[in-house]
Amino acid sequence: MASKPIHSIPTKDLYARWAKVYDSDGNILQSIDDHFLPSLLTQGFSLVTSSPITITELGAGTGRNTVKLLQPREGVKIETLNALDLSPEMLSLAKSRCSAPSTSTSAPSPKVDFYEFDALQPSLFPEVQALEGKAGLVLSTLVLEHLPLKTFFETAKRLLKPNGVLVMTNMHADMGRLSRAGFTDIDTESGNVKVKVQGDSFVYEIEEVLEVGREEGFEMLGEMLQRGVGEGDVGVTVGERGVKWVGVSVWFGCVMRLGGKEE
Ligand SMILES: C[S@@+](CC[C@H](N)C(=O)[O-])C[C@H]1O[C@@H](n2cnc3c(N)ncnc32)[C@H](O)[C@@H]1O
Repeated sequence: MASKPIHSIPTKDLYARWAKVYDSDGNILQSIDDHFLPSLLTQGFSLVTSSPITITELGAGTGRNTVKLLQPREGVKIETLNALDLSPEMLSLAKSRCSAPSTSTSAPSPKVDFYEFDALQPSLFPEVQALEGKAGLVLSTLVLEHLPLKTFFETAKRLLKPNGVLVMTNMHADMGRLSRAGFTDIDTESGNVKVKVQGDSFVYEIEEVLEVGREEGFEMLGEMLQRGVGEGDVGVTVGERGVKWVGVSVWFGCVMRLGGKEE
């Protein structure tokens, strides 16, 4: 499916370069994620037992979802949003996005704090270690493919309170076997040719995600949502780039709860 040369680079370098077009390059997974996230969040919030809520976003990126959490939602009081990400370039966009004043309401907005963080080297980030055990809900969209499964769930577990809720989405294995997170860039060194730039990526079947989640103390609540691209989606749910994915499962997402003693 890939016709361009592929440049594999460290994930941090990928996002340093991808940041400039991440929000505008027609990535189909973001569109599908946008479509399903509201229902996953509604389910997730219904399971959080304490209020006000602290939310920690693992891999917040350009703040695509962080900014949505700043909007008031009935029956949910979010006190603090912690946006964590490996990439300072992505986080910088998230910061500007979240600092734009909301005109829709006079309701108080949650406090938003941004942290550079590498889930593969958590001990290097003492400010994030100080957030451990504080989140009622951890949100992580389209990040899992960059991390070993155990690391992903261990990180979420450390950040959550007992019985905390994890809302997660990821690239489906059927798509991951054909492609991985990345974007088309111009390689100036080799004569301005188009190249696909990609980082470190893992392909995960849903069953293994659930299994490792269980080993780390997470139980899925409700159903695993899965989505492929249909012909009718192109130009509607996803952009024109979606045409090459027609007939392929591309996305999954679910809500999980961390077991443990009651708060
Ligand atoms: C595909 S983007 C998703 C961003 C955002 N959650 C969204 O849905 O638009 C993946 C994000 O994961 C971050 N990431 C990758 N590896 C990471 C790591 N080891 N620790 C923390 N964040 C990581 C990247 O910097 C990037 O912003």
